[in-house]
Amino acid sequence: MRDINSVFEELHTQIASCTKCELCRTRTYTVPGEGPLNCRVVIVGEGPGQEEDESGRPFVGKAGRLLTDILEKGGNIRRDSVYITNTVKCRPPDNRNPNAKEIEACRNFLEAQLLLLHPDIVVTLGNVPTQALLNTKQGITNLRGKWIDWRGIKLFPMFHPSYLLRNESRAVESPRYLMWQDVKDLKAKIDELKD
Ligand code: URA
Repeated sequence: MRDINSVFEELHTQIASCTKCELCRTRTYTVPGEGPLNCRVVIVGEGPGQEEDESGRPFVGKAGRLLTDILEKGGNIRRDSVYITNTVKCRPPDNRNPNAKEIEACRNFLEAQLLLLHPDIVVTLGNVPTQALLNTKQGITNLRGKWIDWRGIKLFPMFHPSYLLRNESRAVESPRYLMWQDVKDLKAKIDELKD
C-alpha cells in the first residue's frame, strides 16, 4: 500500500494543476493545506485570501493570526498539531465567498483530504465549509458549538475568525465570547478522545 505522504504529494500536484473552475485564472498559487498527516483535528476554512494566494499557505493573514491565537491561547491547542485546509484551494477574487460551482469543483479534493487523514474531529469555520460538508442551508449561528456526524467523523462548526474581526464586542453571547466557549469544548473533546 502507498504511504500517506506520497498520496498527499500526488493530491497536491493535482490541485496545483487544476483548471476545473474559473478561480484557476486569477490565482497566484493554489493553497492545498498544511499540517501533520497524523493529525487528530482538521480545520476547514472558506478559501485563500490575498496573503494565502501569494504564499501558497492557509491562514497566514490577519484571520489566520487570530485563528492561531484562539487555538493556542483559548484552547491550548498548538496550531502545528492540526491540519488546516480550505473548502476551495484557490483565492476567490476580492475575497468574496466561493460560489456553488467553485465549491463543487473543489469538493473531491476536500473530501479526499478528510477521508485520507481521517481525523477524530473536523472543525468547519463559518457558513461555507459547514454548509458544503453538511449539505444544509442552516446558518453557522444555529450550528456552531454542536457536534454533528460527518461520515463517522465528529464535525464541529465554529465561527470564522474573519467574522470576529468584523465584530469586536466581547459581551456575553457575542461571537468572540461564544468562540471562546467553543474552543474550550473542542479541547475538552480532544482530551476525552485521547486513548
Ligand atoms: N480565510 C480562510 O477561510 N482561509 C484562509 O486560508 C485564510 C482566510
